[in-house]
Amino acid sequence: MPSADQPPLPPVDRIPSDVVAADDYRQAARRHLDDNAWAYLQGGAADELTLDDNVEAFRQIHLLPQPLNDVRGGHTRLRLFGRDYAHPILLAPVAYQRLFHPAGEMATVLGAGAMQAGMVVSSLATCRLEEIAAQAEAPLWFQLYWQGSRAASLELVRRAEAAGYAVLVLTVDAAVFGVRNREQRAGFALPAGIAAVNLAAGANAGLSGTGGANVFDRLMTTAPHWDDVAWLVEHSRLPVVLKGILHPQDARRAVEAGVQGLVVSNHGGRTLDTTPASIDILPAIKTVVGADFPLLLDGGIRRGSDIFKALALGASAVLVGRPYVHALATAGALGVAHLLRLLREELEITMALCGARDLAALDAQFLLNPP
Ligand SMILES: Cc1cc2nc3c(=O)[nH]c(=O)nc-3n(C[C@H](O)[C@H](O)[C@H](O)COP(=O)(O)O)c2cc1C
Repeated sequence: MPSADQPPLPPVDRIPSDVVAADDYRQAARRHLDDNAWAYLQGGAADELTLDDNVEAFRQIHLLPQPLNDVRGGHTRLRLFGRDYAHPILLAPVAYQRLFHPAGEMATVLGAGAMQAGMVVSSLATCRLEEIAAQAEAPLWFQLYWQGSRAASLELVRRAEAAGYAVLVLTVDAAVFGVRNREQRAGFALPAGIAAVNLAAGANAGLSGTGGANVFDRLMTTAPHWDDVAWLVEHSRLPVVLKGILHPQDARRAVEAGVQGLVVSNHGGRTLDTTPASIDILPAIKTVVGADFPLLLDGGIRRGSDIFKALALGASAVLVGRPYVHALATAGALGVAHLLRLLREELEITMALCGARDLAALDAQFLLNPP
């Protein structure tokens, strides 16, 4: 672990020989990041109960294999929003990636491309969204934080459209910062020179403020509402996906507003503590949106078997957050590609051993105790 006399190690330019699973990258990354970046990356809201539940909930679900099924010719391909994907693993939007690697999102997009993985680029990226797009070899999605007004939000949307992004993901669960006690205890601050370069100067300034009047009278006045969602659907040339939906009634409203996909997510446990683990609420949302509606999930995916469980419970695909950042901090683009390969191989092995030939075959019959 880095300390005052032992600074963090720079990222390596090879795949570390002792990394065979996502959790190995977590342990490796600790040696490559200082306390400041580590608190920001690993932390959750308040007592971090949801953060832990996201991982624990997957452990509580057991697989029930049907090993004699014929899986010859099997594959992990899927189609989402009119595009083909080799596998159902996307990189979740993660802000400020130059905190974790000098090349930031430019390294991540290379790793994603090598494994043909979709990547969701954060509004708070530290590289220009056009430059990231120029390096992309797999579909990029753009994650939008509402910019306080329709005009300012549309400006970002138009840039993403022009740069060739395929999907627009509006994150709705983080209008204000959560109670980030771990970051507060570590005294987290963005280092000089690391900034959200795609936003107008000063945008989102002051989001970390807490206290009643500040939150309700100032910050929440610029948060998006349902009429803004309908407006965005009408004005975006890209399919609009809402990220951060947990309530089945919100899922229903989103479908009614013309939203074309949802990400069931609690923001990796970073915003509101004691919300349910994403996987625990997924079946209730699936029931509302129906079989063919694109439904994604993130939070706590650490193994290919977790991806299998999410898809068996109705997700079309999953997003992975912290694990690829661990890989990025350890070994840059190579690490990101390697992490994706590990997860994909684990998913394929799980499918083969369970007796599922393709993603369409996955359902709750492969699970002993679904939530
Ligand atoms: C360091 C960090 C920064 C994040 N930044 C964003 C962001 O800018 N926009 C967003 O929608 N979600 C953001 N998230 C949430 C992730 O997209 C995702 O929901 C979450 O990490 C999934 O959980 P996991 O880390 O357990 O895989 C961030 C998560 C982390 C860990």
